[in-house]
Amino acid sequence: MSAETLMSPEILQRTLHRLDGPLRWALQEGRTLVTKAGVREGWHVLDVGCGTGYCSLPLAEAVGENGTVTCLDQSLELLGVLEAKARKRGLWPRLRLQRGAAPHLPGRDRAYDAVFCSYLLHELGDDAQRLVAEAHRVLRPHAPLVVADFRRLPDEERCAEINRWYRAQKEDEPGAEEGPNLRFSLDDLETMFVKAGFHVVELTTWLDFHMHGIAWK
Ligand SMILES: C[S@@+](CC[C@H](N)C(=O)[O-])C[C@H]1O[C@@H](n2cnc3c(N)ncnc32)[C@H](O)[C@@H]1O
Repeated sequence: MSAETLMSPEILQRTLHRLDGPLRWALQEGRTLVTKAGVREGWHVLDVGCGTGYCSLPLAEAVGENGTVTCLDQSLELLGVLEAKARKRGLWPRLRLQRGAAPHLPGRDRAYDAVFCSYLLHELGDDAQRLVAEAHRVLRPHAPLVVADFRRLPDEERCAEINRWYRAQKEDEPGAEEGPNLRFSLDDLETMFVKAGFHVVELTTWLDFHMHGIAWK
């Protein structure tokens, strides 16, 4: 990897604090998603906005030696952290790190057995629908798109309160996303899936203001 850098060391530390806190890993949400989607040995999976590997690492365990996990992220620094973790755990040969920006996805049509997208959609704004459409393009028929994200709540006041709390975490971060974290409701997510051509959709709430969506091509 090149030495090119986008984040200051301070912002990298804060990002790692958010993504890699021990409580978050103890919750094992990434592993739960892998199980829910029925990921199997030998699968070729794409993890969009992989960060430090919350889904990529459990995916690498699930796909085994004959599978691959393509890990897409726009941050070189976070990909570097993921690389170090994967090497330490002996999972590195299964990963294909790729620096790039969604909604464009790497890979030919029908290239993957699953696409994962964990806590990225709310950061993409209008590009969220484009990403879902791209995921449909790169998935083989009957394969799952797996999304985890914050859930916009019917209680607007509470929703605004939670959004303010998240916003305050990033107040002085240049370039941090402007929009609310609780951007999409369960219905919004379903609409995005259906609009992109997915035909079976499973939606569940997770830890109150979070949600999981699996859409099958
Ligand atoms: C909230 S983090 C989630 C990371 C990881 N999926 C997880 O659940 O821990 C969002 C990630 O998406 C990456 N990201 C943001 N916008 C992106 C884009 N347009 N294309 C690719 N990655 C992006 C960020 O660098 C960050 O790693």
